Amino acid sequence: MKIALINGDGIGPEQMESARSILYKIDDILDINLEFEEIEAGDSALIKYGKALPDESIEKIKRCDACLKAPIGSSAADVIVTLRRMLDLYANVRPAKTYPTIKALKDDIDIIIVRENTEDLYSGLEYELDDSAIAIKVITRRASLRIAEFAFKMAMMRERKIVHAVHKANLLRKSDGLFALCCREVANRYPEVEYGEMLIDACSMQLIREPREFSIIVTMNMYGDILSDEAAQVVGSLGIAPSANIGDKFAIFEPVHGSAPDIAGKGIANPLSLILSAEMMFEWLSSKDRRCKIAAEMIDNAINNVLRKGIKTPDISGNNNTHEVTSAIINELTNY
Ligand code: NAI
Ligand code: MG
Repeated sequence: MKIALINGDGIGPEQMESARSILYKIDDILDINLEFEEIEAGDSALIKYGKALPDESIEKIKRCDACLKAPIGSSAADVIVTLRRMLDLYANVRPAKTYPTIKALKDDIDIIIVRENTEDLYSGLEYELDDSAIAIKVITRRASLRIAEFAFKMAMMRERKIVHAVHKANLLRKSDGLFALCCREVANRYPEVEYGEMLIDACSMQLIREPREFSIIVTMNMYGDILSDEAAQVVGSLGIAPSANIGDKFAIFEPVHGSAPDIAGKGIANPLSLILSAEMMFEWLSSKDRRCKIAAEMIDNAINNVLRKGIKTPDISGNNNTHEVTSAIINELTNY
């Protein structure tokens, strides 16, 4: 099993050092034969090669079974937005759930945001015209149907089979209107799944007032980007927010957050967002190798135990540093 690793910028390398040692430990225990391919991308690659995403890096990622990516700094859009489109990673899966001892707005929150990952206002179609600037919002029937299908399939695997489609179709009648129409079309094919729609502004409020109402939220690229940062804070911190960029052939797993320059180099970055991203990676890889399912369970179990012992970083009201949290997780893995 070949895993591409992107070190990232800011707190990225600190988080990756932590995740790497956990991957080594898992491989030691389960003998999955993990091979690692280091990929150069981001601000450091931009300085070295004049390109944030060198062609060779893209080719290397394509040759791997999955990619684990730490956050990147100001060149993030040139790397991840490009990769999402080039590798057609159309589904961005962003879970937000409560964990033991992490203070959340409410107990027992378990939401998955399914964000369309290839179009919308992030298509890069921006123009300057005299004293104006114009950005084009692209919504296609193909991408909307396939993300809705993805969300409903995911709902079928969950205990709470509820999907909320989030949009602003009352105002953006054509673009968001098409997205809503596609979601309704797919909803009709899944009678077992409860379906609702919510406007993006109301949803942002409801996510704070009663987050337990939601199970799966399916939405367009930009709303999903914003809602997932909000959802992460609703359950405690961006530092525990993992994500998966999934396509039919490739997948990249990364924290929801950025490179956190305000705490970079201080040794206090929460490594959990990247470790939980690795857990999602093993979950996804389990169709290729059954042992990856065990790897995912081991990571989940270890994180829960470490949190129950109160070992955590300052962003989730703990007193431990990145290294101490990592060591505690490795300890738990050893005792699995
Ligand atoms: P950010 O997400 O890096 O940080 C926001 C806040 O959350 C900061 O106070 C930070 O300290 C805190 N935080 C984030 N992750 C944390 C962790 N693991 N542990 C503890 N605290 C954590 O957002 P910001 O500062 O707006 O962006 C910084 C850079 O990241 C920008 O250059 C941006 O372009 C880039 N970025 C990269 C992304 C990616 O690689 N996919 C995604 C989002 C932003
Ligand atoms: Mg974001």
